[in-house]
Amino acid sequence: MKSPFQYGTLVDKESFVNRVEERKQLKELLGSGINVMLISPRRWGKSSLVKVAMDELTQEDKHIRVCFIDAFSIKTEAEFYRIFAREVISCAASTLEKRLEDVKQFLKAVSPSITLKSDPTDTLSFDLKLELEEKSVMEILELPEKIAAAKGIHLIVCIDEFQQLALLPGYKSMEGKMRSAWQKQQQVSYCFYGSKRHMMMDISNNSSNPFYRFGQVLFLQKIKKEEWVPFIVNAFHRTNKEISEQQAEQLCDIVKCHSWYLQQLCYFIWSGTSEKVTDEIIEIRTHQLIDT
Ligand SMILES: Nc1ncnc2c1ncn2[C@@H]1O[C@H](COP(=O)(O)OP(=O)(O)O)[C@@H](O)[C@H]1O
Ligand SMILES: [Mg+2]
Repeated sequence: MKSPFQYGTLVDKESFVNRVEERKQLKELLGSGINVMLISPRRWGKSSLVKVAMDELTQEDKHIRVCFIDAFSIKTEAEFYRIFAREVISCAASTLEKRLEDVKQFLKAVSPSITLKSDPTDTLSFDLKLELEEKSVMEILELPEKIAAAKGIHLIVCIDEFQQLALLPGYKSMEGKMRSAWQKQQQVSYCFYGSKRHMMMDISNNSSNPFYRFGQVLFLQKIKKEEWVPFIVNAFHRTNKEISEQQAEQLCDIVKCHSWYLQQLCYFIWSGTSEKVTDEIIEIRTHQLIDT
């Protein structure tokens, strides 16, 4: 049976708890063209929140397209531009033919070579290889607005673990270029999110940095106990197991409502229970979890 509790991946809609206000706020801001900088410690739920909120937004508004870039694994400035261009192109066109046309039309200065990947799950994937000169860098950074304007859509570019970019050699000049291209864009919003609070704050709140006051800063809070408890009780119930509200509260207290640890602890309890959770199961499984 599939576990109703998930950790280590982005949670899908079924195991996603609440965050009604945050979802609404993110959709309103990004949907109306305001950039967002979302900050919280690791594993509280930023990536999951942005993904769920943006999936909802694209369902609700057919003019909106969203692309996701994970800066965590990006090692060079050139790699960032390559992935940025690839993801923007991919989200704005649905077929491989249209993507290739867009590359030709919108990336004239770059003249990238294109690699097609035959991936069984996504036969339309492709990658770009490019030579970077000043003029092609600006063309890539201006790409979202050009595509959005030409297609009559609104683009949202989400950059996860944004602060990692600040560690790249050459980041200072890159930051200036990004800011000068992106601040003029009317049909594009940017969502930067990250877990290194002081770095994120320095990027957005230090008046000598290009991204000073670039958008709305949001601090993601933990999900409240009152929201977790019904989720936990229901998740057991719909998989034909039982846990009391009081026991669910106890689990929240053990991990202080930390999203990742709570899903993990719930999974341990859930998988160790055949019908009804007992205090003994909680005790044994909590110790097992601590040992791991
Ligand atoms: N809204 C949520 N509902 C339920 N579980 C969540 C939620 N947000 C996060 N989690 C849990 O926390 C884990 C870490 O979430 P993630 O979005 O990767 O956090 P971050 O991006 O802040 O590091 C997820 O794998 C999931 O187990
Ligand atoms: Mg994340």
